[in-house]
Amino acid sequence: MLSEPYKIKEVKHLPFLEPYQRWNILKHAGFNTFRIPSDHVTFDLVARGMSSWTHFQKAAYMVGDEAYAGSRNYARLEEAAREIFGLQRIVPTHNGIGAEKLVVTTLLNKGQMVLHNRSLIGGLVEGNGGLPVDITCGEAAKHDPPACFGANVDLEKLEHLLKEKGPEVVAYIHVETCPDGWHSQPVSLANLKATAKMARECSVPLLVDISNVMENAFWIRRAELGGQGELIEIARRVVAEADLVMIDASQGCRSDVGGFVTSVEDARFEALRNQVVVYEGLHTYGGMTGRAMEVFAVGLEELRRTEFVEWYQAQIQFVYEELRKKGVPVHWGAKGVALDVEKMLPHLKAEDYPKFVLAAALYILGGIRARIDGTWRHHASVAARILHLEIPRCAYTRDQLEEIIAVVVQLYENRDTVYGLRLLNDPEFVDEARFEPENQRLFVSYLGDQRRTKPVFEPYKIAVIEPIGLREKEQRGAAMQRAGYNTFLLPSEDVYIDLLTDSGTSAMSCFQWEGMTNTNDTPYTSRSYLNFVEEFREILGYEHILPTHQGRAAEHIMSQVMIRPGQLVPGNMYFTTTKLHQEMAGGIFVDVIVDEAHDSQSDFLWKGNIDPEKLRAEIERVGAENVAYVSFEMSVNMAGGQPFSMANVREISRICQKHNIPIMFDATRCVENAYMILRSDPAYAHRSVKEILREMLSYGDGCTISCKKDFLVNMGGVLACNSDELAGQFQRMLRAWEGDVSNGGLDIKDIEALRRGLLDSLDDRYIRMRVEQTQAFGQKLKEVGIPIVQPPGSHAIFIDARRYLPHLDQDEYPAQALAAAIYIETGVRTMERGNVSKGRNPKTGENYRPALELVRCTIPRRVYTNSHMDFVVDGIKRLYEKREMISGLEFEYEPEVLRFFQGRFRPKSPWAF
Ligand code: F0G
Repeated sequence: MLSEPYKIKEVKHLPFLEPYQRWNILKHAGFNTFRIPSDHVTFDLVARGMSSWTHFQKAAYMVGDEAYAGSRNYARLEEAAREIFGLQRIVPTHNGIGAEKLVVTTLLNKGQMVLHNRSLIGGLVEGNGGLPVDITCGEAAKHDPPACFGANVDLEKLEHLLKEKGPEVVAYIHVETCPDGWHSQPVSLANLKATAKMARECSVPLLVDISNVMENAFWIRRAELGGQGELIEIARRVVAEADLVMIDASQGCRSDVGGFVTSVEDARFEALRNQVVVYEGLHTYGGMTGRAMEVFAVGLEELRRTEFVEWYQAQIQFVYEELRKKGVPVHWGAKGVALDVEKMLPHLKAEDYPKFVLAAALYILGGIRARIDGTWRHHASVAARILHLEIPRCAYTRDQLEEIIAVVVQLYENRDTVYGLRLLNDPEFVDEARFEPENQRLFVSYLGDQRRTKPVFEPYKIAVIEPIGLREKEQRGAAMQRAGYNTFLLPSEDVYIDLLTDSGTSAMSCFQWEGMTNTNDTPYTSRSYLNFVEEFREILGYEHILPTHQGRAAEHIMSQVMIRPGQLVPGNMYFTTTKLHQEMAGGIFVDVIVDEAHDSQSDFLWKGNIDPEKLRAEIERVGAENVAYVSFEMSVNMAGGQPFSMANVREISRICQKHNIPIMFDATRCVENAYMILRSDPAYAHRSVKEILREMLSYGDGCTISCKKDFLVNMGGVLACNSDELAGQFQRMLRAWEGDVSNGGLDIKDIEALRRGLLDSLDDRYIRMRVEQTQAFGQKLKEVGIPIVQPPGSHAIFIDARRYLPHLDQDEYPAQALAAAIYIETGVRTMERGNVSKGRNPKTGENYRPALELVRCTIPRRVYTNSHMDFVVDGIKRLYEKREMISGLEFEYEPEVLRFFQGRFRPKSPWAF
């Protein structure tokens, strides 16, 4: 199974509207989807400039050398073009149009022809007095994989034209790799070679547009070379056929803008280089900023990551096949699919503008914007037959594509209900067109509710990615050996999917980054700090909000201030750092969680509940004055991410109030607990997560938070309370142990990110997707027979290692062995939570052998897609089938404390699975 060769690094929120709202927006846009503002579009299906960046490109954006002449970024761009394609020199331009402009203005004389395979009616050629002649066979729409070279030149036609007209009439031949014109079908290598040969023979230069050369190479390899060869080598062979090369950076290089053009031949190169200063800018920036050149250069270098184009083509194939299965008349292309307008809406006539009707209907139904641009004449003629749904590179997930497919299918099934548009003006370009519908009401009847109830897909688009790769199994085995069979000791570079923890590993949003770039950085009172306090006060409902650098710092301060030595601290199970700080302050932790929490097979919904009887008994045993506070964790981590119920927290609150004992929450995963209440308690089914959260917290007196989890930041913590007196004591300690009261030792940028992370986390669509992803992951593991802790929690799935590896004794560390084996089999990193973590009894020297011997698969937020999660399920299942081949482990090196971090192991007998 394939999954993304990258993880998500930064996301951009998608806007969601109802169909009737979209109808109104469309009305204002003259029923022309081009004119809809992007904040009303959910899926913008245009490939150009819409792809995600890698985080290396994002970093490159910060290193622009904006010198007018001889920018370093230009040098790097030229170097990249040399390295990747063997192009010795380039003339930079502001985009693909800029590149074509230079070619047209240097090579074309008035009255000359340009032979091309682009189908588009060439604005630049015509504008300069030339005549564009389409030399494709015009049958592209009929091609489907594997006979998919719809952009091939009709060689007979070419020969005829060249012989008849000669170089006096034909200025140049323009061949584009996967041209937009039809629907981005590739050109074959054989066809390109034949074209080049004829061009040479007739002394007509051949310009090859390599903007989509990797997609093209992919199809050459698959359909022409029998799957043989390196993609980058094939791309070089394409480039080698050209006399002139041009590229638009916003396509395969996933940049926003930029381009270049070059010529093998010296005189032509000089001519282009002289022309660039006229139209574009100096020959060392050509209309690009330094930073744009740097982003482009990195994108160019990243064409080496051929796994990107492979994933991209797999995504398109998926959309194409799913639509075909449902009978939708669709054509395949290397950058997306094209709907056959006539077959989609056979009851509409040309004067009903069916292509625009289709585009408008897709928008109303699913917030989808299909590709519509260029000249009106083009759209009114050949291009009227198809509507492109282009797929931006690395920007959408499988679940989002499934949503797009569902919308198209729904429209197709209800195509009879769609009626025509009337054109109101006389446009020259498509973006100018204005329409009105033949009936003044929704022309797609309200179908929204008929589909699957509320599909769950990511409510964000991928803005920035981080490449990840799966090493060969042999390499993984060696890496695990080097790491002493301890996943903590693996370098992250060796890891494909990292499920070690959900702490600090979230992808941030553009909304968060936006705030971080405009803070007033002062350690004293900053606006960001004040806003942070205000927002947290409003949502948590506690008067005093103190920032700390992370959760354990808040736990330390709270424990030191609130616990007198010898006092009891009852809690619902424990987290390692929480318990440690309670004990360091002289407190005695006592577990008062419900019994079900210790039983991995109980599917009780509220395993995070405190047992009121246990609590009462403890209070009675020691006396209320000897209880420091009740430590009440939300979505109890060690129990498997299990929530408590609202009824339970209400009851515990009553008990504590009666005895005057404070409740201090560990609200680290409070948003997930709130969502679980919404999900499972009918009384809260129609409330918002924010409301539920506020009610939960209202039953306590304060909280600590590790904001690195639910609040979607990479660093940060909070300590909050209502009492003025406590707050004063907390602040005194904060100054000594952490930093200023106004930052808790955090970067102000991180404080701003935290406030915005809090807002992000309370988006009901997001939190729903987040928890349902974990739930579905657990469900799938269960379905394939993997023993997991029941029921699935919200942040992690815990595998029961004793039942997975029943042939191992607990002193052979089954969970440690399983985590190591999972890595070797799948490249996925998980964490041991069992005998190794629990340690040895210092008196007897024996292992504690805890009841739960688990492997934790923790899911970072907004980072992995469901394709990734399916990959994990597959791997764990595959390993399960050969589990007897995993032998137990023994220590090679055993640290005295916290041995799970640095301990090293070896298998008792060699592993051969
Ligand atoms: N409380 C809970 C429930 C936690 O899960 C964690 C950290 C902390 C407190 C401590 O916060 O790391 O910010 O100092 N849990 C991480 C994990 C380490 O992997 O579960 P911190």
